[in-house]
Amino acid sequence: MFFRLFGKKKKDEDGALQHHNSEVPGNADWSFLGADMHSHFIPGIDDGAKDMAESIAMLRAMEGLGYNTIVTTPHVMSDFYPNTRQTIEAGLKQVQDALKENNINITLRAAAEYYIDEYFIQLIDQEPLLTIRNKEVLVEFSMMYEPPMLNDVLYKLQSNGYQPIIAHPERYLFFHKELQRYRQFKDRGCLLQMNMLSVTGHYGKGIKQVAEQLLAKGLYDYCGSDMHHERHVGVLKAITNTKDYLTFVNYPFLNSRLCNVSEG
Ligand SMILES: [Fe+2]
Repeated sequence: MFFRLFGKKKKDEDGALQHHNSEVPGNADWSFLGADMHSHFIPGIDDGAKDMAESIAMLRAMEGLGYNTIVTTPHVMSDFYPNTRQTIEAGLKQVQDALKENNINITLRAAAEYYIDEYFIQLIDQEPLLTIRNKEVLVEFSMMYEPPMLNDVLYKLQSNGYQPIIAHPERYLFFHKELQRYRQFKDRGCLLQMNMLSVTGHYGKGIKQVAEQLLAKGLYDYCGSDMHHERHVGVLKAITNTKDYLTFVNYPFLNSRLCNVSEG
């Protein structure tokens, strides 16, 4: 596999990653990740793909970037995107059919990006949640303030046998002055998912800096495109021409373990 060119990834005593390679290869792509686990490809059910044509264009681009597996994650947010297992599974089937019709060789599954709100708290008890893998559940929360029930909800998830994956932790500005919080999430058994676009400055300079710090400390577990529209494809492509790409190549992301899994 491509990443073998770069040798084994290691962490030093402090858990920080050692970077061994410094040249961007000419054939840069994302095939070493294999799988993407955060995106919005099911059309019309959230703020992602607007229609099937856009969804297929993005998925074709993902195939071109080297991905072979995608776990797409529509928003479940009661106020704005009241998706259910049924709306997501019905939409997934339509996109899977369209992938076949368009000869796109990507294995597509669906989970969800659950927004932590009162509805979600009830849902945990009501029905099995849609998972990225095994019992891993992708969650997000307000970017404006820390939800007062955050720790209780994470605990509730864990008590129900789930492992929370916190989506794009670098985007929560209220944690930027309390970097120890990120390690606390890890210490209590949560996984952290970085948005790949964060290292480009796409969401702002502060978010870029925090993403770089979390990468350097080895605190991330997964990375995801969080792709919503075709403009994000261009940003993902552009990363492969920069030194940031080497950071990804040298980092032990867990994405590839999502390949060849038949269900979440
Ligand atoms: Fe998202």
